[in-house]
Amino acid sequence: MTDALTIVIFGGSGDLTHRKLIPALYNLARKGRLPAQTRVVGFSRRPYSDDEYRDALHAHVTDELGASYDPAVWDTFAPRIAYLAGDVEQPGDYGKLDAALREREGGPTDRIYYLATLPQYFALIARGLGDAGMAQQDGGWRRIVVEKPFGTDLDSARALNATLHAAFAEEQIYRMDHYLGKETAQNILFFRFANAIFEPIWNRNYVDNVQITVAETVDVGTRGAYYDDAGVLRDMFQNHLLQLLSLVAMEPPVSFQADAVRDEKIKVFSAIRPIALGNTVRAQYEGYRDAPHVAADSSTPTFAAIKLYLDNWRWNGVPFYLRSGKALAARSSEIIVNFSRPPHQIFLHSDLLPNVLRMCIQPDEGIHLNVQAKVPDTQDQAAPVDLGFSYQAEFGNIELPDAYERLLLDVMQGDASLFPRNDAIERTWKLIDPLIQGWQSPEAPPLETYPKGSWGPLGADELLGCNGRCWYYGCGWRGRQ
Ligand code: BG6
Repeated sequence: MTDALTIVIFGGSGDLTHRKLIPALYNLARKGRLPAQTRVVGFSRRPYSDDEYRDALHAHVTDELGASYDPAVWDTFAPRIAYLAGDVEQPGDYGKLDAALREREGGPTDRIYYLATLPQYFALIARGLGDAGMAQQDGGWRRIVVEKPFGTDLDSARALNATLHAAFAEEQIYRMDHYLGKETAQNILFFRFANAIFEPIWNRNYVDNVQITVAETVDVGTRGAYYDDAGVLRDMFQNHLLQLLSLVAMEPPVSFQADAVRDEKIKVFSAIRPIALGNTVRAQYEGYRDAPHVAADSSTPTFAAIKLYLDNWRWNGVPFYLRSGKALAARSSEIIVNFSRPPHQIFLHSDLLPNVLRMCIQPDEGIHLNVQAKVPDTQDQAAPVDLGFSYQAEFGNIELPDAYERLLLDVMQGDASLFPRNDAIERTWKLIDPLIQGWQSPEAPPLETYPKGSWGPLGADELLGCNGRCWYYGCGWRGRQ
């Protein structure tokens, strides 16, 4: 990294800037991880002075920062923040922005352009930056960060990739999927490839099924306008869930370099068999249609469950079950690797449960392996016990950084391994598009409903139950306690 860096945030007065970007940059500053000459420049239409902008941010970020807020740190961080007003829809404003930045920078400086605006402006801004010569890497590198949603289907994703590539080389583009920045998601690769003992059993010979759950307690809240168009498949599956799946299912990369890891992910996406509509469940929580900006007759799913297969040597025949929903009973993101039962049962009085590896992404970050142990003072009764690793217990003195902190640092360091490449985006849309279309066709599975605060529709249980399996509910196998 060089010493001089400008981070330009388009959408500088928006929600993402307040909730995620400024807190992440503050924490990097607090830990001394920002280059010495770092400038953060908010850019949007509102007319703020630098001081007014800092004050507006301050009012928002103290809540977000919680215990990590330290007025002394803020006082050293705030002077690095500046504000420039302009309109991304005015082509002339990019040149003005560039001139104002150059004046402040006063010499060679690296730049990050962070697109934290509404998605409909992503292509426009990329084009505007390109046309103004602001993507050219003369006098410092230039990188662009694009938030999700990355398109709304394959065609729009391709179009957005093409627009980005017209101005920026792929190496300059960082597509944000914040799930990949979560410590526990990153740890999946460490768990698999920094240990020798799991890889030999990580395949169809020992694994019965894999479950990936991202359950949220929050409902759609005030995001109805976006969500009613998007729905759960676009919002969670095309990106977060499929990215988690790729970490679990990929072959060992030859190195931890960005393209080595990303090449293996592509192989996973290419191996996923087109998903049959009969292997999907869609549902909406009761009361969703009353949310602001949601159509009164909306059929947008807020919950989905799907079963899919990978056609490759490692995973042939192993079902992967994915589910995600809003307004569910618990906030819980987990990956469950459910191993096969012992081939021969010699403990006749025990109902042996299969071994389960539970990777808890959030909130109780950790990894748990359930194994069978003899219940003391019985002849041959077994019970599952937990061989557990908890981040809190092992690394309690180290705070888990927010995903945005990790990912922003990676952008600064030019490490793209945690950012989906253009081909991954297109591959994942290829898998999800037919479902979105199929769900609008006469062959669509029925739109079920589920009460808020429940574990979703019964159809999700039947998706596994028809094969004698059930979801792991955090509290155990035996159902929806
Ligand atoms: C976002 C989705 O990408 O991820 C939201 O747009 C969702 O709908 C959020 O709530 C979940 O992220 P996290 O980190 O809270 O699990």
